[in-house]
Amino acid sequence: MTGALDAASALFRELTGYEPDGLWSAPGRVNLIGEHTDYNDGFVLPFAIPQRTVAAVGLRDDDRIRVASTFADEPVSVGLDELDRVFPTTPGTHPAVPEWAAYPLGVAWALRAATGATGRGVDIAIASDVPVGAGLSSSAAIEGATASALNELWRTDLDGTALARIGRRAENEAVGAPTGIMDQMASMRGERDTAIFLDCRTLHAERVPLGIADAGLAILVIDTRVTHAHSTGGYRERRASCELGASLLGVPALRDVSVQDLSRAQQVMDDVTFRRVRHVVTENQRVLDTVRVLREQGAKAIGELLIASHASLRDDFEISTAELDTAVDAALASGALGARMTGGGFGGAAIALIDADAVAEASDAVTAAFAASGFSAPHLFPVTPAAGPRRDA
Ligand code: GLA
Repeated sequence: MTGALDAASALFRELTGYEPDGLWSAPGRVNLIGEHTDYNDGFVLPFAIPQRTVAAVGLRDDDRIRVASTFADEPVSVGLDELDRVFPTTPGTHPAVPEWAAYPLGVAWALRAATGATGRGVDIAIASDVPVGAGLSSSAAIEGATASALNELWRTDLDGTALARIGRRAENEAVGAPTGIMDQMASMRGERDTAIFLDCRTLHAERVPLGIADAGLAILVIDTRVTHAHSTGGYRERRASCELGASLLGVPALRDVSVQDLSRAQQVMDDVTFRRVRHVVTENQRVLDTVRVLREQGAKAIGELLIASHASLRDDFEISTAELDTAVDAALASGALGARMTGGGFGGAAIALIDADAVAEASDAVTAAFAASGFSAPHLFPVTPAAGPRRDA
């Protein structure tokens, strides 16, 4: 975290020659269970992670917004009143600004649109400890840090849920990725040692204490280093299949379909659409079951639900990869209680729930399995559920 704080401050000084008005940060997330359920109005159970993105921000004397990032060569500068001409991005096309800049600029655009904010221009310098493209919501962390900063500097006074909606609008309409709201809510509402049980239809959020360390457990992230982009391809296709399935069943969203309805569903749709639907419907049930098991028996008892989630994502939703399957299989073979891919799929990371004193052994086993399959070495690190956005300076 100090790394990103120092890097954002240094980049800000390099960009402007003066000190920022403040530093704001927001975390990435891991989703414990509930994958591709959010845009189906369903249930998710993510938590925020200690890795954060920092925005160093200072008000300007004019009406320009300038963004710089440690992962881009050149800053991007736009007039605040030009944002309405730059966004929204036409679905299926690229934004009119470099994609990385569409996240913070999209947040400024969406915040102004939602609140009528008339605050002055800003300089924004962004640095991050969240690995990019790893399925750990580096994008929601950028949105959360930027939204928190502008909310304060422009005095728009929105709460965490409203800022999550701003971030999602930036992602959907400025970046052009048709994602749900899970990542932004996980980043904005994160709390230590707690998962967020979110109803994505109502945005009702409940805290679910995880007690991972107290149970002698750890959650290991296995970043396969196969990166993904949700603005293109498979994510959009999966979403379209879910919408088709819901319309064939005559319901607003797959949230309204239960496991008991599946035999009827199978009769009214093609096999591929049915399997997409079956994943979402059973995954919603697994989230409800996981919350119940966590509350009644604790984290040690949720392993089988994680394993079933991965199988469903691999076989019915078909968004796993050979690397993710290898990560899950090797973690389980070395004694993990449960393991699954996390995030949107087509690359990114898996998680394993494991005895705290078996982390080193499991890490070695996963690394060896990757080498044996000829895959690039994965990046492994344990995570603990962490707090949401904050002002760091
Ligand atoms: C990505 C999206 C989320 C969600 C997950 C899959 O992370 O940003 O909205 O759909 O994929 O669960």
